[in-house]
Amino acid sequence: MMMNISIFGISLVTASDKTMAIRSIKIHIIATMYCLCVVWWLSKSGQDRIPYSRHRDNSETRLILFGNTFWGDTTWEIGEGSEVFANCPVNNCYLTSDKSRIAKSDAVLFHVHELDTFPEYERPIKQRWVFFMLESPQFSANTVYRGEPWRSAFNWTMTYKLDSDIPIPYGHIERVPRKSTKDYLTISKSKSRLVAWFASNCHTNSKRELYVRELARYLTVDVIGVCGRRVCARNYSGGDEECQTLINNTYLFYLSFENSLCADYVTEKFYKILQLDVVPIVRGAARDDYEKIAKRNWYINTNDYDSPKALSDHLLRLSRNLSDYVRHFKGKEFYEFNTYYGLKRLPQWCKLCEKLNDETERPKIIRDIRSWWSTTNCAQPSDVG
Ligand SMILES: *[C@@H]1O[C@H](CO)[C@@H](O)[C@H](O)[C@H]1NC(C)=O
Ligand SMILES: *[C@@H]1O[C@H](CO)[C@@H](O)[C@H](O)[C@H]1NC(C)=O
Ligand SMILES: *[C@@H]1O[C@H](CO)[C@@H](O)[C@H](O)[C@H]1NC(C)=O
Ligand SMILES: *[C@@H]1O[C@H](CO)[C@@H](O)[C@H](O)[C@H]1NC(C)=O
Repeated sequence: MMMNISIFGISLVTASDKTMAIRSIKIHIIATMYCLCVVWWLSKSGQDRIPYSRHRDNSETRLILFGNTFWGDTTWEIGEGSEVFANCPVNNCYLTSDKSRIAKSDAVLFHVHELDTFPEYERPIKQRWVFFMLESPQFSANTVYRGEPWRSAFNWTMTYKLDSDIPIPYGHIERVPRKSTKDYLTISKSKSRLVAWFASNCHTNSKRELYVRELARYLTVDVIGVCGRRVCARNYSGGDEECQTLINNTYLFYLSFENSLCADYVTEKFYKILQLDVVPIVRGAARDDYEKIAKRNWYINTNDYDSPKALSDHLLRLSRNLSDYVRHFKGKEFYEFNTYYGLKRLPQWCKLCEKLNDETERPKIIRDIRSWWSTTNCAQPSDVG
């Protein structure tokens, strides 16, 4: 009998008699155990090579430095201090913009859109550099992060991408115990206009403006904001109440079109409309990304229509048959839709503080951020000419 045993893909034994084969198996079980021990020992000693203190006192403050500005703001709309951590389970963190404390900081945050000169100082081995970005990789013309030494400088990522070390989705949806009382049919009948679109950026990677222009050939799209005629007052630190009320009370549909077509890139444009009695029409991330977030009937996806014309036919049909239209609200009354206004309210600061206290957190070196933060995560529009 021929036997051929391979371990780690390497063929080690060829035996022609049975006892030989059994003996070989024994030898190889021992060899495998030995190998596993070596692997374990190596990984353990690798861990020890970086003198990460295991028993750091958790009452000791973790210092987090703003390494650069966030849209020009040196304290990132948050301010210095520990207020942002006040309600966190782990709250011994402190934010500062004092660059002279960089060597003493446990983490340094960099807003990637505004990366500039590389800080030169003796970087402590335990310090984490955090790659922070809420926009898509297509959005920013600043590609400084792609060059050395930046591209191999980061330890953690905080972005909207769900595979970030600390993911920052633009909102969250939660089931709440509540009895349905809403009469959506009556609400829908009181609406006087068809489709609204609010845009502050009139030329985008997603070419959404071309899609809207095409759609507007077949039905009326009211463009609110600097790209159009209608106006409402924005309030970035508040709930955008005036605009929200206008959209909520007047429109059947809203175009929640993203500026980039990137994986996981679903922004407040979606969550903010889900909060209202309005049906969002999405165009942005992959179909699955939306399906992971919200129930399928709560929104309309442009992906499901061959053309803006086909979509417009569907919207007009729904506007004439409100009992069909209101199916888009089925089940919504049992959920609460949240989106974040301003960095200050992000729950992820708690997570960051927690991670900085977690002694089981291993060192992490991102050797080349370019392969992760890449426009290959984004699609080119194929639905506009
Ligand atoms: C914006 O919203 C904040 C928070 O809700 C509120 O305190 C502020 O008065 C609002 N500003 C305006 C101009 O409405
Ligand atoms: C939206 O309109 C409905 C129906 O008029 C109302 O019950 C709800 O409170 C409104 N929501 C907002 C955020 O304005
Ligand atoms: C609305 O659509 C439903 C089917 O989805 C149909 O039964 C109903 O007759 C339609 N109503 C009108 C007014 O066309
Ligand atoms: C952070 O990244 C730097 C640069 O790659 C590396 O030298 C350092 O060991 C990393 N530190 C931790 C704690 O992961």
